[in-house]
Amino acid sequence: MIHIPKSEYSRRRKALMAQMEPNSIAILPAAAVAIRNRDVEHVYRQDSDFQYLSGFPEPQAVLVLMPGRAHGEYILFCRERNAERELWDGLRAGQEGAIRDFGADDAFPITDIDDILPGLIEGRDRVYSAMGSNPEFDRHLMDWINVIRSKAHLGAQPPNEFVALDHLLHDMRLYKSAAEVKVMREAARISAQAHIRAMQASRVGLHEFSLEAELDYEFRKGGAKMPAYGSIVAAGRNSCILHYQQNDAVLKDGDLVLIDAGCEIDCYASDITRTWPVNGKYSPEQKAIYELVLASQEAAFAEIAPNKHWNQAHEATVRVITTGLVKLGLLQGDVDELIASEAYKAFYMHRAGHWLGMDVHDVGEYKVGGEWRVLEVGMALTVEPGIYISPDNQNVAKKWRGIGVRIEDDVVVTKTGCEILTKGVPKTVADIEALMAQARTQAA
Ligand code: GLY
Ligand code: MN
Ligand code: MN
Repeated sequence: MIHIPKSEYSRRRKALMAQMEPNSIAILPAAAVAIRNRDVEHVYRQDSDFQYLSGFPEPQAVLVLMPGRAHGEYILFCRERNAERELWDGLRAGQEGAIRDFGADDAFPITDIDDILPGLIEGRDRVYSAMGSNPEFDRHLMDWINVIRSKAHLGAQPPNEFVALDHLLHDMRLYKSAAEVKVMREAARISAQAHIRAMQASRVGLHEFSLEAELDYEFRKGGAKMPAYGSIVAAGRNSCILHYQQNDAVLKDGDLVLIDAGCEIDCYASDITRTWPVNGKYSPEQKAIYELVLASQEAAFAEIAPNKHWNQAHEATVRVITTGLVKLGLLQGDVDELIASEAYKAFYMHRAGHWLGMDVHDVGEYKVGGEWRVLEVGMALTVEPGIYISPDNQNVAKKWRGIGVRIEDDVVVTKTGCEILTKGVPKTVADIEALMAQARTQAA
């Protein structure tokens, strides 16, 4: 399995600590276990920030960074080993494992945190934490601070500055290292294979969930624990619902099916969309819309390179799509005016992409000082233009209604442009139709 090496977690902690103010402390909690029903839990997914700095996969843990601390800068509070619990729920690292396998300088039982952490915070001027994102943890943090305050008459010094950690940490997460790109390439490779499998399995009369099952099969077979987000399998008019997730309709002859799905490897997401005809052959209208979306995506790729800004790719898709919609008679008027008045939004109502990483819609600012962010090597993003013609749109000829097309790929900015991580899935009309025809011949 391809994963982030231990040395990288250590490098990240050092890089964060180098940016922290002198005499400060950073405190981050692991994700809580989410209950699905009564005593059944959701599959556990570590908090992305916590994972980024530790690679520690367990719940009920708190990571503490104390730059310059003589007895060790990296402290992990985690569950103790427990033979009875481990028999039921699986192995735990324990404090020994936290040090031996996860590089902690010091480790304590999580049950001792109320006794130990106030003593660690005491005397530090600044506390970095993800304020506001976890109210329960914020309350704990204030309790620990109040313990120190209550001892002020004994000379205890509570910190007097609280700083949001996000700004430093999320900027680090925006730039992907070689190891991160490698993991993202693997997530993309498995997801590409999943889309190919779903294309091959596509048949009139199956259900949307039949294709979702093909995706899940490839994800799990590739070693992914779960999809990076709820898979969207949207046939016919459902393709015009941007975040459709019901996935239970029948696949009908003459309909397109739009699949937006990607898996997660070592907490790194992939995010791919392809749209193909259920029966293996695009109708003339479907083909026209499809090729327009594809052309807009190609135009966007050309605008992704160092020194180009974040919005250039989006602007390129808007221009190509608006021009094409006028040519097809779906919009009337002057292209520049239609862009200025945002008339295209009746058909293309979302942006061309988002940062991609540990979170599908990854962290990182899109604007800096009020200006669109300039792209730099290592930034990862999606490119996902779409055209959705509402089944209820009375302003267009009937033959167009209910067609929804999105094409989405994942890219990383390189020195000269961008690397497309997800190019393993066919994308032209000819290539998709050929793949589907071949699958049918083989099955016959
Ligand atoms: N699958 C969510 C998105 O494409 O942004
Ligand atoms: Mn997507
Ligand atoms: Mn996306």
